[in-house]
Parts: sequence; C-alpha cells; structure tokens
Amino acid sequence: MPDTIRAAVIGYGAMHHFGWAHSAWIDHTPEFELVGVCDRDVERTEAAKQDWPGIETWNDTAEVFARDDIDLVSVVTPHFTHAPIAIEALRAGKHVVVEKAMCLNVAEATAMVGAAEEAGKTLAVHHNRRHDGNFRRIKQLVDDGEIGEVFQVDLEAGGYGDPSHGWYTEKAKGGGLLYFWGPHAVDWVLNLVGEPVTGVTGFFFKKVWDHVDIADHAKAVMRFESGCVAEVTYSRINAAPRPLWRILGTKGAILDSGAAATKGYEQVISTPPQGSVKLLRVSDRGHKREEMEVPNLDNDWHNYWQDLADHLLRGGPVPVSGHDGRRTIAVFEAAEKSAQTGVTEPVPYE
Ligand SMILES: NC(=O)c1ccc[n+]([C@@H]2O[C@H](COP(=O)([O-])OP(=O)(O)OC[C@H]3O[C@@H](n4cnc5c(N)ncnc54)[C@H](O)[C@@H]3O)[C@@H](O)[C@H]2O)c1
Repeated sequence: MPDTIRAAVIGYGAMHHFGWAHSAWIDHTPEFELVGVCDRDVERTEAAKQDWPGIETWNDTAEVFARDDIDLVSVVTPHFTHAPIAIEALRAGKHVVVEKAMCLNVAEATAMVGAAEEAGKTLAVHHNRRHDGNFRRIKQLVDDGEIGEVFQVDLEAGGYGDPSHGWYTEKAKGGGLLYFWGPHAVDWVLNLVGEPVTGVTGFFFKKVWDHVDIADHAKAVMRFESGCVAEVTYSRINAAPRPLWRILGTKGAILDSGAAATKGYEQVISTPPQGSVKLLRVSDRGHKREEMEVPNLDNDWHNYWQDLADHLLRGGPVPVSGHDGRRTIAVFEAAEKSAQTGVTEPVPYE
C-alpha cells in the first residue's frame, strides 16, 4: 500500500447528503485522497463536481471498479444495493467501507465477509456513531464503573408521525423499520455491554401506517451472557417517547435525551462537546443519592477515518469489521424471526 489511500465515494444522495459527508471525511483525512464520486444519477454527480472541484465523476460503478489507481470505495447507496456493490468492489481488488445498515440479512453479510477474505481486502462498516460525544461519554462512565454492574439498557427513538421516507420505507429496499436508526442503537448496545448475545426477542406492530410496508413500531430485546438485558425500540406510533438512553447499574443510572449531543450532524466533520448526560449515583444502600450533569465528549466522527487510515497503512485494527457489522444484522434478523415464532431466537455470532 502506498502512503496515500486513493478513494472513491459511491452514492451521493440528496436525502441526508451522506455521500457529501463521506467525501468531507475522506478529504479531511491527510492520508486519504478523494479521487471522485460515482452516482448513477447525473444530477448528483453534477452536485458532487460543484462541491469538490477537480474530482472525477462516474455514473456507473463498473467504471470505478475498472480503475487500478483506486484503492478504496465507500458505499453510500440504499441498503439493498450494499451487498452487491461491496462484493463486486472487493472482487475488483478494492478495500470497502460500507454504510450502515451493512446489508439486508445475515446471508448477505456472510457473503460480504467471505468476499473480503477471498480478496484479501478490508471490509469496514461505517458505524461512525460510536464516535458520538454522548455515546463516548456514556461508554467511559460505564467502563469506569460509575454505575456499577450494568444489568439493563433501554434505547428508544422515533415518535408519532407518517414514516414515509423514500426507499427507507420500502421493506425490500431499506430492510424494515429497525434498519434506519436501529443499526446505530444495536451497535452502541453491543459495544457498551461487550458480551455475546445469547438470544433476541422481537416485537413488531403494524397498526396505523398502511401506505408503507414496514412496521409502525419495532422492539428488539437482547439478552447477554451475563444476564444483562437491552431493549432497542424504534417507533412511528409512539405518542409518549422516553429518553434516548436509560442505563441501570447496581450503583446508579445514566439518562440521556440525546437532544443536544449531535447538533450539526451530516453537515460537519466533527464538533466540540455539545450537551450532557445525567449521572445518578446511589450509595449507603439507597439512602444517599447524587445527581449530576456530565458534559459530553466531542463528536470525533473524523477519527473513524483516521483509524481506517491507521489500519490500511500501519496495520492497526479495522475500525468496525464486517464480522462486527454482521452481529448487528443478525440481531435484526433474530428479532424479526422471533416476532413470527413467538420465542427467543439465538444470535450465533460473537
Ligand atoms: N451513518 C449515518 O449516520 C448515516 C446517516 C445518513 C445515511 N446513512 C446511510 O447512507 C446510505 C445512503 O443513504 P442516503 O440517505 O444518502 O440515501 P439517498 O437515497 O439520498 O442516496 C443514495 C444515492 O445512491 C445512488 N445510487 C443508488 N444505487 C446506485 C448504484 N447502483 N450506483 C451508483 N449510485 C447509486 C442514488 O442515485 C442516490 O443518489 C444508507 O445506507 C443510509 O442508511 C448513514
């Protein structure tokens, strides 16, 4: 590998400007060079040219894969295209970063991991929100033992409203209700608890929004090896949302609305600390209680890309491997299966 990683972004969408975000992180990281952007929509490659004067653009991925001087592609397209594009890129000898959700199911994830192994190339999943300042602070507090042994984690997002959101709300293209925000939440939980998942129970409700074919409300309950339980809920029919995070430990709890933590996300490379989490500490068998606001850490999203450069150029760990990404997909798949079978389903990946 030379000193510079020559990268192309595939997918420069207008919905969240996330192809722009990938281009910005790549452009910001000294050891990466943004060679160009590929989108099958000419309007989007025209937009990319305006945003990044001097880059190349393509409207067919085959043109990118045929280029010997591109080392890495970053796949920022709709979920149903992730596996085929990533596998083709790996077979063409490119390293691949693939956006969350990694793909639609475990079979696709396994094929992607296999293609990377066969090609001897890196497959990294863009679970960049491990770098959110509130999550970084929460993980630090938990790892430092501030709330004792964690036995329950509740994560909830969404609200009440029409879920319509382009391809995200077509099940065959997006994967379903859990695949939009759920990949962040499940990845956070797997990281925070840091243990094998012994089983997942899923609950899916379809009650109100008939014009889309995804669930209105979905919940995945994960049981971990130590007995710790974590619940991830995403809803479009929840009229009374709870805080984003509630973590219960034997010596206290953490609460976080998440509201202020990521202001500016999707428009910036990183941000200084924003907002705080509430830390509750209990001692003297419950007679003494302390409550404090702990400021969040900075949102250092650019460090995902620095870690990737360290991996590719100096042999450091992959920021989020294909195996890691597959665990999240396996939780979704188990949740959906469990909702049909009515029993807890296993997640056979550590
Ligand atoms: N990590 C995050 O926080 C975060 C935030 C937003 C979006 N995302 C992810 O980014 C991805 C893209 O989401 P989006 O909201 O930008 O979608 P989008 O629909 O706005 O953009 C997708 C783009 O891909 C292009 N495209 C589709 N198929 C293609 C193909 N075969 N070849 C080339 N171009 C193709 C489309 O023309 C479109 O411009 C999704 O996986 C989404 O979940 C992640």
